[in-house]
Amino acid sequence: MSFVRNAWYPAAWSHELGRALVPRTMLGEKVVLYRTEAGAPVALEDRCCHKFLPLSKGKLKGDAVECGYHGMTYAPTGVCIRIPGQANIPAQARVRAYPAVDHLGLVWIWAGAASLADRAKLFQLPPYGAPGWTANKGPYTYIKAAYQHLTDNLLDPAHVSFVHLSTLGSAAMEEIPVETRQDGDTVVTSRWTLDQPPVPVFRAFRDIPGNVDRWQIYQFYPPSLSVTDFGIGPVGMGHGDADRDKGMRIHSCHFIAPETERTSHYFWMQIRNFAPGDEAVSRTMTEQFIMAFAEDKAVLEAVQQGEDESEGRVPVRLGIDNGPQRSRRIVERMIRAEQDAAPGAASGRGAQALFDRKPEQNSGGASRGMKVK
Ligand code: FES
Ligand SMILES: [Fe+2]
Repeated sequence: MSFVRNAWYPAAWSHELGRALVPRTMLGEKVVLYRTEAGAPVALEDRCCHKFLPLSKGKLKGDAVECGYHGMTYAPTGVCIRIPGQANIPAQARVRAYPAVDHLGLVWIWAGAASLADRAKLFQLPPYGAPGWTANKGPYTYIKAAYQHLTDNLLDPAHVSFVHLSTLGSAAMEEIPVETRQDGDTVVTSRWTLDQPPVPVFRAFRDIPGNVDRWQIYQFYPPSLSVTDFGIGPVGMGHGDADRDKGMRIHSCHFIAPETERTSHYFWMQIRNFAPGDEAVSRTMTEQFIMAFAEDKAVLEAVQQGEDESEGRVPVRLGIDNGPQRSRRIVERMIRAEQDAAPGAASGRGAQALFDRKPEQNSGGASRGMKVK
């Protein structure tokens, strides 16, 4: 399967995970998610090692999961701690435990070798929780398309004029070329639309007379995260980071995890620098983006279907595909590197869950995360 394993992937919104067993397929593997009594997230293989009944069909017993068939009970480490009617617990009576942590309002799981799980590799997003910035979170969104189609789309400012005319786009942007650059493994595509009326999404929040300059800066962080920095400011504004901070600025965050080769879990939120703490604005923004991302979902699912039916025909590449192609090459290189480094090491057998971690206890490491200026 074409996945980078040694990475943190978003599995659920933190606020959605509690004392219930939630089944979720991640990178083709069945996982059950829950929280301990102390609130720490747990992710276990969703398959009892006896007769393979999904553990999500069982019950929580304190911090452990009791299988719904014969009552084998597993600790958050994946180790079996009880077999009803049998004193001896075989050493192999265990299920895989995935390291799981709360970070940026999401539960992330490490899908590869647990020994390589590293909190410093969690995605860092400086505006999240910073003074003056407010986040609105969208509902969990399920997309019947490969994660690569989502990440392509999120490096593709050109589609906005055609797919999102009612929300994010305008015909004025149509002919403006897209710039692409790469900084290490971060791919950035961008476009400035100068001296044009603001697009609908901004008019919903403020009365804006006259024209504006508008930026869209799409950043891809492998294997499947993306942040779109976009906003508007006065005509003639500077283009630097501090200049953009003075405008109406939104970091639209897209956190994606493959469910299978052809389906994806999609978690999104916006972080804005205007109307701080205003719940009504947060609600309106979520509603606007539900509409916008429903437009993407419809296209992406049809694209996936088109690809499935294409019988191997090779697509024509355009200039606008430069960014998406780069991102795919980076991910392919990472997959090859994992396979070459240690065949089999990207499986998490013998994993130890980081179940003692506190919610929102971040690594503090800045080795990974939003870095575009
Ligand atoms: S299937 Fe789980 S205990 Fe038998
Ligand atoms: Fe889109």
